[in-house]
Parts: sequence; C-alpha cells; structure tokens
Amino acid sequence: MKLDKVVPFGRSLDEYRNMFALTDGDLDKDIIGVGDGPASFNAEMSALGRSVLSVDPLYVFGPDEIEKQFSRRCQSYHYHRICTVAITMLCEFCGGNTKAKSVKRQHWLNNKLYIVENVQAEVCIECGERYFHAGTLDALDEYLSKRHAIKERLDVEVVSFNQVVA
Ligand SMILES: C[S@@+](CC[C@H](N)C(=O)[O-])C[C@H]1O[C@@H](n2cnc3c(N)ncnc32)[C@H](O)[C@@H]1O
Ligand SMILES: [Zn+2]
Repeated sequence: MKLDKVVPFGRSLDEYRNMFALTDGDLDKDIIGVGDGPASFNAEMSALGRSVLSVDPLYVFGPDEIEKQFSRRCQSYHYHRICTVAITMLCEFCGGNTKAKSVKRQHWLNNKLYIVENVQAEVCIECGERYFHAGTLDALDEYLSKRHAIKERLDVEVVSFNQVVA
C-alpha cells in the first residue's frame, strides 16, 4: 500500500451510529471495527469506556504520516471545492482572495527534507496562507523519488528551543 495513493477519511461515532443503525445495546458489546481508517469512532467510544478494536491496513503507517496525508487531502479538497465552484478561491482562515503563484516549499518525503522552488500554489493575498493541490504534491513526490537535478545542498541546524517567553 502506498500512502500517497490513499485518501484517508473517517467518520464519527454519531455517523457510525446512523450508518449501521447501532443501538445502545450494540455499543455496549465488544466491537471490532474492520477498515476503521482514521475514523474517530474508536477514540470516541474509548473515551466513553466502551471496547473497540480497529483493524485497517492503513495502520502500517504511523499517526503522523496519516495525519499529514489527511491534511494534505483536506487542503486539496478546499482548493478544489472553492476553485471549481467560485473560480477564485477564498482563504479558509481569513476569507481573503488568493492568487496563483510559484512558491518555495519545504517538503518532507521519506524522512528527507527538500526545499523546492517554483511550486504552484494558491496564496492568500491577505494572510499569506498557501494552498497546494494534492495533484501538485503527488507530482512533486514522484519527481523527487526519481533521479533529479540538485541545485544546491544546505547545511541545516536542528535545535530544541525550550524557553517560555512571557
Ligand atoms: C473510506 S475509509 C472509511 C473509514 C471508516 N470505516 C469510516 O467509515 O469512517 C476506508 C478504509 O478501508 C480500509 N481498507 C481498504 N481495504 C481494506 C481491507 N481489505 N481490509 C480492511 N480495511 C481495508 C482503508 O485503508 C480505509 O482506511
Ligand atoms: Zn488568508
């Protein structure tokens, strides 16, 4: 399974309840959730002291990877929904208009950090929030996975900034 080919999307306890017509009696049983993916069903049930075991091939990936993919798809969903319906896109944070631009992006792939110039994005002209189409990010993953030209190598410091500034 390749995570970049998966669209993680999951439902809540309420949605499971409606979808499977689950009664309170059903929810009191030990439940196995086959293919629960990133659904919040298990977390919500566990918080209520109920018993759910979730199994899904998606879980070979860690929570960070799944969440990254999830937010990537959400961003792209937003991009698509607004761009195709309204032609111009509005920023989901501040409501400002966005403009198509080529930007520099810090991009992680297989635990390696890349700084990539000239990546197509929609950029909010008010707050600067950037939106990338999932197709652009998938194409970038593919480009970086193959042999590619390296413009420059940088020396990067990783530090821990452990100060509370009032
Ligand atoms: C669209 S998601 C739905 C998640 C959850 N059931 C919900 O309704 O919110 C479908 C899930 O099925 C999982 N899946 C695909 N093939 C499977 C299989 N053979 N066995 C178990 N789960 C599978 C996928 O990894 C994905 O997480
Ligand atoms: Zn904005």
